[in-house]
Amino acid sequence: MLTIDAWLRQNGARFQHELEILARAYFGISKAEFICESDQSITPNLKNYLSDALVKLKRGTPLAYLLGYKEFWSLEFQVNRNVLIPRPETELIIEKSIELANDGDSVLELGTGSGAIAIALAKERPDLSITATDISIQALEVARENARKHKCKITLEHSDWFESVSGTWNLILSNPPYIAENDPHLDFLAMEPRVALVSGPTGFEALDVLIENAHNHLKPCGHLIIEHGIGQAQEIKKKLASHHFTEISSHKDLANINRIVTAQQVSPEYG
Ligand SMILES: C[S@@+](CC[C@H](N)C(=O)[O-])C[C@H]1O[C@@H](n2cnc3c(N)ncnc32)[C@H](O)[C@@H]1O
Repeated sequence: MLTIDAWLRQNGARFQHELEILARAYFGISKAEFICESDQSITPNLKNYLSDALVKLKRGTPLAYLLGYKEFWSLEFQVNRNVLIPRPETELIIEKSIELANDGDSVLELGTGSGAIAIALAKERPDLSITATDISIQALEVARENARKHKCKITLEHSDWFESVSGTWNLILSNPPYIAENDPHLDFLAMEPRVALVSGPTGFEALDVLIENAHNHLKPCGHLIIEHGIGQAQEIKKKLASHHFTEISSHKDLANINRIVTAQQVSPEYG
């Protein structure tokens, strides 16, 4: 008899951990329960499921796409290949939003993908009135499903950055695509949607649109919170200053890397 545990040890190689997580998800059981279950004989169905998953893992498919979900801000978000897998460092946007938002503020998230930022913030701060947008209709479907799952009242809209957005906001948040189109790191991200990663040759194209247009959509004293890539902080801060933002600060993620910039609108007449 070949047990599940023995199959994993014989076949899992460097993906043993991922396959164990998939096997647990297959049964819908906890880690502790799986310890007992893994002594059972492996069924043909489970063997096929894990063998198929192993092929995909070896091709570079991220575990989250195989599971169909990813945890972010201690919440489970449905993901598929139409959305970026939410990253732990992006939680910094939630922390800063909670800090900067006053009771009842309006919040606009641009490029919501799975909806992770907008939904986590709505769970944490139900007093806020949150609208989230994306250019990808397929991503908006995932965000809608996640909002339903987490029973969140957020408004989802289709828009190319600010193009279809009207009104002004106390907070504008975004984790835009910020990787340059020839960046070799993209080889490791090939399974995720390119529109979520790349916005042009320099990596600054989407960031520039946000910085140049945010003034027209922020209320006086409103805040802009943007995530960016490694090494982009100085350039972004310079651009924000040249667009008359104030209180411009960088914030580091848990790996001690500058990851987000916050800035404040001074006066409504700049734009
Ligand atoms: C880096 S992903 C962020 C996804 C999600 N907010 C997160 O943090 O996990 C960037 C998102 O911006 C969206 N996007 C790209 N170009 C856009 C555009 N021109 N207008 C609006 N959204 C855009 C992508 O579809 C993608 O969902």
